[in-house]
Amino acid sequence: MNEEKNNYFWSGRFETPPHELFQQLNASITYDWRLAPYDIQGSIAHACMLAAIGVLTTAEFDEIKTGLGQIMAEMAQGEFAINLEDEDIHTAIEKRLIDKIGDTGKKLHTARSRNDQVATDLALFIREQCRQHLCDLALLLKAVHGQSAAATGVILPGYTHLQRAQPVLLSHHLLAYFEMFSRDFTRLRRVLDSTLSMPLGAGALAGVNYPVKRGDVALELGFERPGANSVDDVSNRDFALDYLAAASNLSMHLSRLAAELIIWSSQEFDFVEIADAFTSGSSIMPQKKNPDACELLRAKAVRVAASQQGLTSLLGGLPLSYNKDMQEDKLYVFDTVDILLVTIPLTAAMVDTLEFNAGRMRAAAEESFALAADIADYLAAKGVPFRDAHRIVGRLVRKCIDEKKHLRDLTLDELKAEATQFDDAFYEVIDLEASLKRKASEGGTGPALVAAQLKLAAKRLEEMRRAAESLRP
Ligand code: ARG
Repeated sequence: MNEEKNNYFWSGRFETPPHELFQQLNASITYDWRLAPYDIQGSIAHACMLAAIGVLTTAEFDEIKTGLGQIMAEMAQGEFAINLEDEDIHTAIEKRLIDKIGDTGKKLHTARSRNDQVATDLALFIREQCRQHLCDLALLLKAVHGQSAAATGVILPGYTHLQRAQPVLLSHHLLAYFEMFSRDFTRLRRVLDSTLSMPLGAGALAGVNYPVKRGDVALELGFERPGANSVDDVSNRDFALDYLAAASNLSMHLSRLAAELIIWSSQEFDFVEIADAFTSGSSIMPQKKNPDACELLRAKAVRVAASQQGLTSLLGGLPLSYNKDMQEDKLYVFDTVDILLVTIPLTAAMVDTLEFNAGRMRAAAEESFALAADIADYLAAKGVPFRDAHRIVGRLVRKCIDEKKHLRDLTLDELKAEATQFDDAFYEVIDLEASLKRKASEGGTGPALVAAQLKLAAKRLEEMRRAAESLRP
C-alpha cells in the first residue's frame, strides 16, 4: 500500500489507512504529550540497557541518547509539532528520533512495546506529581497549624447538625483540619510506594525475547524492582487508582474546609473574613464579596471524585491484559493533577490570610445554650440520675427560649423550682472558660490539652515538612 497515505508504524498489515474520524478517536497525543519527559527518560534507560546486553553498540546508544536529548530541547522550546497521525507521544518521539538520526533510531523499540512503555511513563509521572503535592500539602499543614497557634484562647460554639452544640477552642477546631490533612499526607506518601514496580520489560504482555536487565533499568528509573508478572505489568493501573483515591480524599477535605469558610464568612455568621484575593464581586450588586475560591474548591472535589469513579469503572470492565480503553486513564489523572496543583497551594495561601472574628465567635458561644450538657453533668454529680438531669435542663432551656433569656439569667429560685439540688455553684458552672477546662479527656478541647496538641502537631509538621523537602521534584 501507499506508505505516504499510511504512515503508521503498524501499517504493514493494512490495505487502507484509518478513517479520518477513527484517527481522531484513536489519537491520545492531544493530551499524552505531557508524558514526554518521562518517555524520553525511560527510552534512554532502555537504550542504555540494550547497549549493555549487546543489542545496540555503544556508538548507537550515544546517537540515540543525543537525539532524544535534542528532542527534549525541541519540546522545551515549543518546536515539537503535534500531529494526529503520530497517535501518541511514544510514537511521535520515536518518529522524530528516526527523522533525526536515521536507521539507528529504528532500533530503539527493540524489546519493548508501547504497552509496557506507557504504564512506565504514567507511573513516573504520578510519582513526580505526588512529590510536588506533598510539598504543597506541607505548606497547607503549616498554614493550618499557624492559624491554630494564633487562635489560642478564642472560643466558638462547636456545631453538630450545624446547630450550636458545645463550646470549643478555635485552635482545637482548626487542629481537626491538621489531622485530616496529615492523613492525606500519609495517603499520598503511600501512593509513591504503589509506583515502585516497573512495567518496562513486560513487552506487549508476555515478556520479551531478549536477555533484558530489568533490574538495572528499574534502578536507573527510580523504581524499586521490575514487575513480577508481565501480564499484570501492562494491565495494572492500581498506582493511578491509588493516586486518584488519595487525591479524592484530600479534595473532599479541602471541600469541607471550603464549605465551612463559606458559612463562617456569611454575614449571618461573621466568624471569619476571607482575604479579598480569594473572593470576587458581582457585576450588578456593588456590595457583594463572594467566596468563589471556596465554592470552586467544593466543585473541584466533585470532579476529582468523579475521576476516581471514572477510572475504576473504566478498568472494571476490562479483561486482561492491555486494552485500548486504558489510553483514557490519563485523562482522569491529568485532570486531577491540574486541579491539585492549584487547589492545595491556593488553600494554603488562603488559610494563611484568614482573619477570625474572635468577638463574634465568643458572643455566639455566650448566646447559645452550649453549656446545657455541663449543667446536666453538674446535677448528675449531685446525685440526680443523668437522664432526669437531662430532662430538667431541657425544661429550663425551654423556659429561657420562651422568656428570651440565657440560662445564666435564671434565679436560684427559678432553678430550684425545677430541681432542689441547684445551688450557687450553678453560676460557676455556667461559664465558657470553666466548661472548656472540664473537657479533660484525651483529644478534648481543654486548654492545656489543646496546648499540648499544638506542640505535638508542630513536631509532626516538622517531620512532614522534612519528608516532603527530601522528595521535592
Ligand atoms: N496510546 C496508548 C495508551 O496511552 C499507548 C499504548 C498503545 N498500545 C497499543 N498496542 N495500541 O494507552
